[in-house]
Amino acid sequence: MFVFNILSIFPEIVKCFTNYSLINKAIEKNLIKFNFLNLRDFTKDKHKQIDDEPYGGGSGMVFKVEPVYNALCSLKTNERGKVILLSAKGEKFTNSLAKKLSKENSLTLICCRYEGIDERISNFIDYEVSIGDYVLMGGEIPACVIIEAVSRLIPGVVGKEDSVKFESYEDIFLEYPHYTRPENFNGLMVPQVLLSGNHKEIENWRKKKSIENTINRRFDLIRNRKRPLDSSEVLEIKNTLQNKFEIYIGLVHFPVYNKKNEIVLTAITNMDIHDISRISRTYGIKKYFLITPDEEQKAYALRIINHWKNGYGREYNPSRKEALKVIDIKESIEDAINEIKKISSKNLITIGTSAKKRKNEITFQKLNELAKDNAIFLIFGTGWGLTEEILDSMDYILEPIYGLTDFNHLSVRSAVSIIVDRLIGF
Ligand SMILES: C[S@@+](CC[C@H](N)C(=O)[O-])C[C@H]1O[C@@H](n2cnc3c(N)ncnc32)[C@H](O)[C@@H]1O
Repeated sequence: MFVFNILSIFPEIVKCFTNYSLINKAIEKNLIKFNFLNLRDFTKDKHKQIDDEPYGGGSGMVFKVEPVYNALCSLKTNERGKVILLSAKGEKFTNSLAKKLSKENSLTLICCRYEGIDERISNFIDYEVSIGDYVLMGGEIPACVIIEAVSRLIPGVVGKEDSVKFESYEDIFLEYPHYTRPENFNGLMVPQVLLSGNHKEIENWRKKKSIENTINRRFDLIRNRKRPLDSSEVLEIKNTLQNKFEIYIGLVHFPVYNKKNEIVLTAITNMDIHDISRISRTYGIKKYFLITPDEEQKAYALRIINHWKNGYGREYNPSRKEALKVIDIKESIEDAINEIKKISSKNLITIGTSAKKRKNEITFQKLNELAKDNAIFLIFGTGWGLTEEILDSMDYILEPIYGLTDFNHLSVRSAVSIIVDRLIGF
């Protein structure tokens, strides 16, 4: 039998929760058992004081470590199991932690209130766990969350074991959507495929929906996956991302700064042509604009591109031609913007990039959000960077990429790779 020890000043909150549904049934079936310890019973003073003022000042009261320590010591070592402190600043509780904990025979859950507990409790616990990025008034509800997530993984607690196996967080992707009777609810229809009786098609549809939902709601689950993707998953993710995102890149050769902070025209380089077009082709960038008003420079770029698209290069390396198709040479940023507006039906947002810190920067996270509903034009400078005037004219400036040292002279090609990968890579 699995034992949950609950340490709290309000154990009734958790007790009440155990009176219902499958948790209650599991108690009746002797699969799980609860042991409630009221922390006030482990204080030594006549007022049963559980908390005190924080050292160093500050608002709010803090749980004392001693009563909790005493309560822990009152438990037999073999009944204590892993000790978990519920805490808003703990590691995030996940299904994989629930799985790991369900393999134990017992768990001890410490619920605090007020500002939390004296940090020295960390010497007596195994995990400090948060159930999500929000602050609750006490650890009792988080304890109930853990009890429920762990109990349902204990054999016999949930009727059909399959219903536990195929669910969100079991693997990489969120679960597919469910439908039940009626087939037509006020004109809202059940997807036809689910009525087809074709199991293979139903399975494919569910897989597709589950990938789509994960991309739209929890892309982080794909990025932080626990196993490598298989090739059909890779294909499905790529297709969904390509339909979802519309990203353009501009590489500006005029006006940009030189070393002396003068406004100059820089030369187009072979490396930028090749590397950024390959990045663009790999990540499904809609167009890579080479921006220069200089006729000789344009002709130079065209000569290189034509060599690979039509000349000897085409036979030597056919895939390069594919990458270079994404390039478009334009006189100015305005011309590139006008071109995007011709081909895109989405609202366009211009994003300036700079290695230096500036006011009004946005984070990569904000850029991700903007990219969900808008076409994004990422604009990069050559030389010593985009001029103040250009940066001022952008809708947003993306915060710099930070490495671990004060040396931050990335090549523009590296900056493009890192930014694009953080935005849409997986
Ligand atoms: C008001 S909260 C303390 C918040 C704390 N001062 C902070 O900012 O991290 C009181 C108690 O509720 C519980 N609690 C609050 N939010 C929680 C969460 N997201 N996950 C787990 N426990 C939580 C913890 O036991 C916490 O010590």
